[in-house]
Amino acid sequence: MSASIRQAKGTLLLGENFFSIEKAAKIIKEGGLVAFPTETVYGLGAAVTNVEAVNRIFLAKGRPADNPLIVHLSAPGQLTEVANYVPEIAYNLAEQFWPGPLSMVLPRAQNIPAAVCAGLSTVAVRMPDHRVALELIRITGVPIAAPSANRSGKPSPTSFRHVLDDLAGKIDAVIKSKACSVGVESTVLDLTGSIPVILRPGGISREQLEEALGQKVLVSGAIGFAGRPMSPGMKYRHYSPRAPLILITGPEQRRRVLVKSLTDYYQQQGLKVASLSSVIDKTTPLKKRSEHFAANLYHALRQLDFQGVDLILAEETDTAGLGLAVMNRLRKAATKVLKVL
Ligand code: TXA
Ligand code: MG
Repeated sequence: MSASIRQAKGTLLLGENFFSIEKAAKIIKEGGLVAFPTETVYGLGAAVTNVEAVNRIFLAKGRPADNPLIVHLSAPGQLTEVANYVPEIAYNLAEQFWPGPLSMVLPRAQNIPAAVCAGLSTVAVRMPDHRVALELIRITGVPIAAPSANRSGKPSPTSFRHVLDDLAGKIDAVIKSKACSVGVESTVLDLTGSIPVILRPGGISREQLEEALGQKVLVSGAIGFAGRPMSPGMKYRHYSPRAPLILITGPEQRRRVLVKSLTDYYQQQGLKVASLSSVIDKTTPLKKRSEHFAANLYHALRQLDFQGVDLILAEETDTAGLGLAVMNRLRKAATKVLKVL
């Protein structure tokens, strides 16, 4: 077997075999950008030490320069390469949740270029739970800086097709793999203060973290104590489909009534209206609903755009477990939130 040479607008399409991953690693070592699968969403990777390549990530995505990237490791042992101080709690969490969807914010090491972290003195770091991602990082030989591989502001990509829809011709290669299993991004956890703070809810829930640590974990609002966003990425409208999305919150019965009447009203105006809750398989057991919602959310948003829907109606979901991440993404995707009493 050899590395594939198929291309989409100049972007190489690579398979998941060892030779393809070797080829991807070579591209990254030479300063290129490669989109690769992780368990959460596809990442757009560059060698963490290559400032030019890191700058190209921002250009390709149209990403604001003040939004830092996550650094991806292939082993917890690399923590000391990227952080200048690793507290005991970070080793503890790495042992319990890595490889997995948990990014930890730690003091940045000198050798990590400021461009990776948007000039902050901290760095977000994680070890993804995906064979391809881990092999790619290992063969590359240095940690890989990678945001989600979408155009800035669009829903994150959970399949290689989503990556090509947004970035074909703008990046060097994409590794084709199955759809990402978690479907929402990692939890970003700030460990630089006295209490761990979730800056972005994600694939590891607050409940899991609290149980593992035996202590309370805070969830930051969009705005930090000094009036500044605590996680730079959280201040932007995000995860947005082209069609406007109305999020409806409040008691279930009343939500349903409002969804029905809004659907009727807008359809009478000639608009194509879709309900996002139709992506949740009603046969999924209640306990698995939020996992299922998370796994399908971004694909559904992109699919509805593809179908040319004019308006998306989404209903609030329970915030236990992965539901907190789902609600966070829905609030950020929403053009309007309607609360029924
Ligand atoms: O699951 C994930 O986290 C995916 C995959 C590819 O690993 N990556 C991802 O990256 O979602 P991105 O760039 O789309 O989101 C990174 C988030 C942003 O909200 C950013 O502001 C925050 O992490 N972040 C990164 N470094 C930070 C830091 N030093 N301090 C606070 N927040 C940080
Ligand atoms: Mg992103």
